[in-house]
Amino acid sequence: MKLLHIIATPRLEKSRTLQISNEFLNSEKVKHPGLVVDTLDLFKVELPKVSGEITDAKYVLMSGGSLSEQAQYDWEEVMKYSTEFLSYDYYLISSPMWNFSIPYKLKHYIDIVMQAGVLFKFTPEGVEGLAKNKKMFCITTRGSDYSSGNYMHQFDYQEPYLRSIFGLAGITDITFINAQPMDYAPEVTKMNLMNAIKDARSMALNGEAV
Ligand SMILES: Cc1cc2nc3c(=O)[nH]c(=O)nc-3n(C[C@H](O)[C@H](O)[C@H](O)COP(=O)(O)O)c2cc1C
Repeated sequence: MKLLHIIATPRLEKSRTLQISNEFLNSEKVKHPGLVVDTLDLFKVELPKVSGEITDAKYVLMSGGSLSEQAQYDWEEVMKYSTEFLSYDYYLISSPMWNFSIPYKLKHYIDIVMQAGVLFKFTPEGVEGLAKNKKMFCITTRGSDYSSGNYMHQFDYQEPYLRSIFGLAGITDITFINAQPMDYAPEVTKMNLMNAIKDARSMALNGEAV
């Protein structure tokens, strides 16, 4: 079994999100001996730019055209990320909330990997996901509290976005742990972090957060 851990925070060992994710991964490795965990730290890798040339290549290929040698090379660099993503059995996304949504590096990654013909295809009936039967875990932390019933809930564009975009790729089995609020007061942060860590262990053991 192969798990891809996608890191979308630049805060390394200071990251609350990663503290929770590390607990999840430790328990996951106990549950699945031999599990291969590959880490993609989006703040460390240089992702290909979604440039004019790359977007042109996409449309040229969609209309059945062919690419120049350079465009073909650049396009293959982009496609590598998409096919690599597809090669995993399941995923863990570690992402803080940034401005009600995801950090820009994660959006950049999504703009790279969401390629027609790899993660989804167009059919006469619409779009069909090609990454079906794969599971995703998302661990997020937020400064404020966006839980259901809370006034801020309406501004959570993080969980609905991640569910929608990976749902389009066919990944509909997505479990979230949203640790929140994390920036109100140190004692509240500590309690919410501890609860999320407990949830993360349970999510690894049971496949679901408690
Ligand atoms: C650039 C930036 C934008 C942020 N935007 C929000 C936001 O919109 N809503 C919120 O509740 N917290 C926001 N936060 C707070 C973080 O989500 C929160 O502190 C989180 O726990 C940080 O996770 P980390 O320690 O794993 O990096 C923001 C933080 C940063 C650095």
